[in-house]
Amino acid sequence: MSFEEEKELENKYVMHTFGRMPLELVRGDGMYVWDSTGKKYTDFLGGIAVCALGHCNKEVVKAIQDQAAKLMHVSNFFYIENRGEVAKQINDLLNSGASEDNQYTWQTFFGNSGAEANECALKLARMHAYKKKSGATKVVILDRSFHGRTIETLAATAQPEKQEAFQPMPGGFLTVPMNDMQALHDVFAQNKGQIVGMMVECIQGESGVHPCTAEFLQEAVKLTHQAGGVFICDEVQCGMFRTGKAFGFQNFGIVPDIVSMAKGIANGFPMGACAAKEEIAQDFGPGDHGSTFGGSNLAIAAAHATLSQLAKPELAQNVQEVGAYLRAQLEGIPAVHDVRGYGLIVGCDLEDGINAPDVVSKACEKGFILNATGPHTLRFIPPLICEKTNVDGLIQTLKEILA
Ligand SMILES: Cc1ncc(COP(=O)(O)O)c(C=O)c1O
Repeated sequence: MSFEEEKELENKYVMHTFGRMPLELVRGDGMYVWDSTGKKYTDFLGGIAVCALGHCNKEVVKAIQDQAAKLMHVSNFFYIENRGEVAKQINDLLNSGASEDNQYTWQTFFGNSGAEANECALKLARMHAYKKKSGATKVVILDRSFHGRTIETLAATAQPEKQEAFQPMPGGFLTVPMNDMQALHDVFAQNKGQIVGMMVECIQGESGVHPCTAEFLQEAVKLTHQAGGVFICDEVQCGMFRTGKAFGFQNFGIVPDIVSMAKGIANGFPMGACAAKEEIAQDFGPGDHGSTFGGSNLAIAAAHATLSQLAKPELAQNVQEVGAYLRAQLEGIPAVHDVRGYGLIVGCDLEDGINAPDVVSKACEKGFILNATGPHTLRFIPPLICEKTNVDGLIQTLKEILA
């Protein structure tokens, strides 16, 4: 079928929830993807921070192929190979770099997406309060957060323009501006006995790559614990070595109680996961939460092959080095300002009058896949195997477009 015919079918029969680029991608390898005309693109979007090991990583492909031929799905009523191993890998990554008195046993629930991982986190926080008979129900969130598109995670997404059409939203969320210490103290002071927890992205991704400060996060954890609540880190975008550390929170000297993750966890195979410290995780019993597909054989095989490669120290080092190089090179472009981020989650703003979506379109014509999170903001979340030569190509292209 030609691209034109394919486009027509999609436009007619697929819901228009995404504005699509005018190309059909058919193949990928590492940092590159190819469209149906054979044109090659360097990918600085990486499936929205998903293909951490690059497109079609050989070990992940083999793990999925082998597993598909062996057993695809049996339901969560049975033990299966490698689910315990993957949960242990997550446990070890969550404990990595933590001091001895900050080592915990983490138990994981497996779902299929970031939103599901956050649904689990929010349900578990409420269950924890319920089991303690605290009577608390409210969750503190940050302004401009993004936690997903289900009704509950949309309610936790403090962006009124995204919520407007879907009223009534589930209640119970209290919004605080990021890095505003006074507002943080006020919300806890004004809602004594009512707070079950606080949920944050340590580095907001969808809002255009905005990091919290370490002081703000440390204070937030302290206040949450003083209130008897649990601290939840949404690591869906900034986790899985995106910052060069296993999880984003590890850059800020905090240890959360519940951590949600997805995207890079299985290198493109759908998986979300919510890990919690054992004492909290054990508040869930059979029937309290579930998923037909979550943690099924194929996803587990893909995650198993992904996590063992992500944990190699040379990859983390690459993320740090290439990320710092990318930020330094962006800073050298006159039309670019406010370069920010950690590792390979990088954002920047463009001079007034330059439209970021236009830059994305022009870059696409020149063979680079980029992403705009707003009218003046670009975000770079490439595969973590990105090399300095890829960055050089990107910077050259941006300079030509922005000249
Ligand atoms: C921080 C964060 N949380 C949650 C989500 C939702 O994940 P998903 O689209 O897999 O449901 C996203 C997606 O971009 C995200 O960036």
